[in-house]
Amino acid sequence: MNKQEITARIQTLKQERNAIILAHNYQIGDVQDIADFIGDSLDLSIKASQVEEDVILFCGVHFMAETASILAPDKTVLIPDAGAGCPMADMLDAGELRKWKRNNPGLEVICYVNTTAEVKAECDICCTSSNALRVVESIEGDEILFGPDKNLAAWVARHAKKKIIPWDGYCYVHNNILVKDVKDKRERYPEAEVWVHPECRPEVIDLADQVLSTGKMVKQAHETEKKEIIIGTEAGIIYRLKKENPDKEFYAAMDLALCVNMKKITLLKVLHALEKMEYKVEVPPEIAQKARGAIERMIKI
Ligand code: 13P
Ligand code: SF4
Repeated sequence: MNKQEITARIQTLKQERNAIILAHNYQIGDVQDIADFIGDSLDLSIKASQVEEDVILFCGVHFMAETASILAPDKTVLIPDAGAGCPMADMLDAGELRKWKRNNPGLEVICYVNTTAEVKAECDICCTSSNALRVVESIEGDEILFGPDKNLAAWVARHAKKKIIPWDGYCYVHNNILVKDVKDKRERYPEAEVWVHPECRPEVIDLADQVLSTGKMVKQAHETEKKEIIIGTEAGIIYRLKKENPDKEFYAAMDLALCVNMKKITLLKVLHALEKMEYKVEVPPEIAQKARGAIERMIKI
């Protein structure tokens, strides 16, 4: 089957199954092109909670599909590759979180959405990269446990008036973007602005003109008058930025900043998922109920 045939078959199956395809900004171009909705973690969570179709085919990593399943419990949620996990989400498990809470009694816990459903069920409120500061400010206490991303925690701590106690996790993709990479690109493209994701190292954030979630990068790309931008996040987003802004140039701060797990989703796997109705993402109801509380508290903010 060639690409056109695969795409046509996906469209037919989408109708037959009454499915919607949601995709994260880091998905490969072919997958973005067949998606009904593309967004960052927050946009995708909100969209999942509002869909009318029976089936949500989620092109992203496992925790995102789990979040969709928690917010849309009466829908069938599918992920095209069951092995598309997030190494950062695996850096904090529910047992570790329970112990952390026991060692810090009375403190509220904010969990980045890049966590498993079990971890979300143990926390007080979730956050994404686009609302982390607002979530921190919504908490009454002066000290907060924040996990698993130490870089996001450090960025929030710069702006918050509270003490943030971080977990020691990180995203290997963003952590691999180094000061040297950004400086090299700045030298090569002296007219360009530098936008980085808050999952980047603090010393990389120091070099940035703007610190933005992927959703805010997409929005800002439309609004900026700058014609050249160096992008410090997973390089897959550049496909969307270029497609939507053909008059502007976007350069990856680091060309190899690629998330292996995001890239596991291919057009052929999307077809297979709709054909076989695989792989179902289900969260046990008692965990889903607790996790939903933490996610909905975030969405309200
Ligand atoms: P956002 O798209 O929410 O900015 O998150 C980035 C990310 O690393 C998701 O895995
Ligand atoms: Fe996880 Fe980083 Fe990949 Fe996002 S880019 S899914 S945080 S490993």
